Amino acid sequence: MPQIRHNETIDTLLQRRSIRAFADERIDEDTIFSLETAAQHAASSQFLNDWSAIRIEDPDIKQALAQIGKQPYIAQAPLLYVFVLDEHRNAAIAQQQDIDVNSDEFTLNSSYRFSQAQNDGAFALHAMETAANSLGLGCVILGSILNDIDRVIDLLGLPQYTYPLLGLAIGKPAQNPAEKPRMPRSMQFFVNQYPQHDEELLEGLQEFDEQVHQYYDLRNTARPVDAFSAQIAKASTDKEVLVRNFSHAQRQGFELDK
Ligand SMILES: Cc1cc2nc3c(=O)[nH]c(=O)nc-3n(C[C@H](O)[C@H](O)[C@H](O)COP(=O)(O)O)c2cc1C
Repeated sequence: MPQIRHNETIDTLLQRRSIRAFADERIDEDTIFSLETAAQHAASSQFLNDWSAIRIEDPDIKQALAQIGKQPYIAQAPLLYVFVLDEHRNAAIAQQQDIDVNSDEFTLNSSYRFSQAQNDGAFALHAMETAANSLGLGCVILGSILNDIDRVIDLLGLPQYTYPLLGLAIGKPAQNPAEKPRMPRSMQFFVNQYPQHDEELLEGLQEFDEQVHQYYDLRNTARPVDAFSAQIAKASTDKEVLVRNFSHAQRQGFELDK
């Protein structure tokens, strides 16, 4: 049986959990500088650096984001970022280089750039999350701010060719949740080819269902969470996610059929 090689980096990643309650302690400037610099060191597709992050310090904007996300801990986070897909800066640079961004030749607003910039922003966010965890801070990633994309665009003054990606709340943990189980490696890592039969793919699911069903989410300690299969069945018909679509991208100048 292979054994995990432990070092500080791997242990930080293995112990990662979402933290949703924070001590009321501000984060010092050196920490902020370190986290932001770590995020900047993430890889970016073709070195386009096509993401930005907005640190939300205004309590009214924090409150508004908490309302949009329906999660009070968003407003309570000592450090809160919204990561933004950003081709605006690159468009401005291209324009300085005499590129006509209103012509058909302009492709920074295409679907490929949109999806790559989304990836790049997520890598940067994850680098920041890991850096924060390594300093003993806790984080939660916030897709919930996408419940009202237009409002987030307005609140943050997001210009053409930008799009909100995810929030990241950071602070000293004021809770100690258990680590959530992960599915057997064999269900998620394959060799050479994707499994050709779903029976093979789903081997181990029953055991994983049982493990997940023993996990208690601190947001509702009255009962253990549903088995993984039940969670997926529920998610597969969840209509609430339909508001988090890319229709708002057109407003921002993206042409996702390009
Ligand atoms: C893209 C993304 C969006 C998420 N959005 C939210 C969110 O809005 N609110 C929240 O409390 N947790 C959010 N999470 C955290 C997940 O619920 C969490 O990572 C998952 O349940 C696994 O738990 P763990 O992080 O404790 O291991 C998000 C995670 C990701 C990757």
